[in-house]
Amino acid sequence: MRFPAGRRTSWAAPATRCLTPYAQWRHAAAVLDRWQASGHGPGFAVDLGCGDGADTAELLRRGWTVLAVDRQPAAIALAEHNVPDHDRPRLRTLAADFTALALPAADLIYCGWSLPHCPATRFPGTWHAIRAALRPRGRIATHLPGHRDDWAPDPAASAFRSDALDTLLAGMDVEYLEATEEDRDSFDGPKHWHYYEIIARKPAETGR
Ligand SMILES: C[S@@+](CC[C@H](N)C(=O)[O-])C[C@H]1O[C@@H](n2cnc3c(N)ncnc32)[C@H](O)[C@@H]1O
Repeated sequence: MRFPAGRRTSWAAPATRCLTPYAQWRHAAAVLDRWQASGHGPGFAVDLGCGDGADTAELLRRGWTVLAVDRQPAAIALAEHNVPDHDRPRLRTLAADFTALALPAADLIYCGWSLPHCPATRFPGTWHAIRAALRPRGRIATHLPGHRDDWAPDPAASAFRSDALDTLLAGMDVEYLEATEEDRDSFDGPKHWHYYEIIARKPAETGR
């Protein structure tokens, strides 16, 4: 069954709802398991759109140094609050718009449910900046919305057909790509979800 389009047609959740509702889809732990399995130690990660900082906290717990970025000062305050004292020396935070940020070179750029909020007009530049900031063998882990999502028409967001992913990920080693379509609740009632979960790695020898 497909739900009719919901009352809301936008990814623009009320700000405070952004800080809590997405825990069931966290995959930072899965990304980090993969990292450890490949024999590499912790490095420097950027958590773009960190929200309440649960993934930031998991990265820190595993020994990473983390720059947590969110445009909501309340999110940054929460992320800082949620980190234990002994991990705090490896945390930097920044209240900023990630579409207008000079990203530092990083081993992991983690975008948990944040890039769906990137306006389509800003997405190409933001994606380019993320790829450019990845160190050789660095990974991006992200969710991207699919074009059949009920909120795909929202101009304040981005949505992708599967063939567009081929272009976005060209030249990278795609380690994990899962497309999901389902009808279930959102923060604003039932909707049709269509999204991709992606982990991709920059090859060692490329300067991209
Ligand atoms: C759906 S929440 C996800 C939070 C967290 N990453 C998680 O997985 O639970 C999206 C977050 O991205 C932040 N965000 C969206 N667009 C942003 C932008 N352009 N710059 C910085 N933060 C942004 C929002 O403020 C929000 O905290």
